[in-house]
Amino acid sequence: MTNKAAFLPPGSVKARAEHPRDYFAALREKGDVVTDSGDKVVLEPALVEWVLQDYKAFSTRGGNFYGRSRPIIPQQVDPPAHARYRRILGPLMSAQRMAALEPGLVARMHEAIDGFIAHGGCELREAIAVPIPGISVMNLLGLPVADLPFFVAFKDAILRPRALPGTLEEQMRTQADFAARNARYFEDLIRERRAKPGDDLISAMMQAGDGGERLTDEEIQDICFQLPMAGLDTVTGMILLSFAFLAHNPQYQAMLAEKPGSTDAMIEELLRWETPNSALKRTVIADMEIAGCPFKAGERVLASIGAANTDPRRLPDAAVFDPARSPNRHLTFGTGAHTCVGNHLARLELRVVLREWHRRIPAYRLKPGAVLDYSDDNMTRTLAALPLAWGTGG
Ligand code: HEM
Repeated sequence: MTNKAAFLPPGSVKARAEHPRDYFAALREKGDVVTDSGDKVVLEPALVEWVLQDYKAFSTRGGNFYGRSRPIIPQQVDPPAHARYRRILGPLMSAQRMAALEPGLVARMHEAIDGFIAHGGCELREAIAVPIPGISVMNLLGLPVADLPFFVAFKDAILRPRALPGTLEEQMRTQADFAARNARYFEDLIRERRAKPGDDLISAMMQAGDGGERLTDEEIQDICFQLPMAGLDTVTGMILLSFAFLAHNPQYQAMLAEKPGSTDAMIEELLRWETPNSALKRTVIADMEIAGCPFKAGERVLASIGAANTDPRRLPDAAVFDPARSPNRHLTFGTGAHTCVGNHLARLELRVVLREWHRRIPAYRLKPGAVLDYSDDNMTRTLAALPLAWGTGG
């Protein structure tokens, strides 16, 4: 194990977004813990797992609360208090519960495809990658689809305030404004659902647990702040990254079209290969060293799951895209107490999108002349747009 901190040239965020596997391979040459774009980043897979699993040494608190005065739940709560939230949310977001959303999602997917299939092309972000995750989260929470534009604007303001118009001060004010609007929205909604419960996650959270386990309205609000934030951007990014990969690799389009049974294993490999959240943030609780690199209490550390997912020390053939890989022990949904509670919903959405798309559009390509604009702001990889064409379209 090497111990040195290293610096890559500025502009590396773009390189990481565009060529993550090459980027991590180059970074790995510099050490197990490196300084990248001003952050100390842990790359070595066992250390990445340690940072994410040892909640006594590394906290998810710290940083800011996204323009609000309380931490978001469950992300910014450390164990053991965190376990109560997962005891409630885990069963309510199980694979079995999420399966109830599938027929509605399949119907929306076909409605969307009906709208553009005859055109011989579409821009995937607008046509599928934003609406399908949006409808999933709205259905999960039992919210009207008409409110989706608010939630898309909300998560953009919360996750990427620096992309908002105005000065830094104005950007922070807009972010806090969206946080306050979200709080008011759910304050009213929770009051309504208390009076008239429905068949949705918010009503189920109100009824879950007993005695000291019961969630307060404030806690439900704090969970409802996190869910759209966590569940929209990630799936949007993953759909775009997957289709960009498939557009460059037509043999896998054919595999998905001819063998729909290959979809689940393909999704797992796409999750490993593309890793939309390239790194996860933690705060060091006490002064310490990681692989010889000193950290002060309160300092931020990034655990690079993107690097760990493609590290030959964890997976000897990590550089090979293997659509049948089994088992596929990627870290794309994290590891430890905070492992993604939405992973069953995310997998369902990806399955519906990939399966139904390839049923209707078995072969496609990038629209000629399309330039792909990858980004990795706030450690979330995505594409600004993905213009696709098929048949005689283009
Ligand atoms: C492909 C899509 C997704 C990816 C790659 C992803 C990734 C992740 C990762 C890496 C974490 C762990 C964060 C950490 O340890 O700091 C996480 C946590 C979380 N995710 Fe996801 N996620 C996805 C979809 C979703 C969806 C659809 C939802 C819900 C609608 C969701 C809700 C959450 C929540 C609530 C947490 C916090 C869990 C906790 O702190 O206990 N995610 N996600």
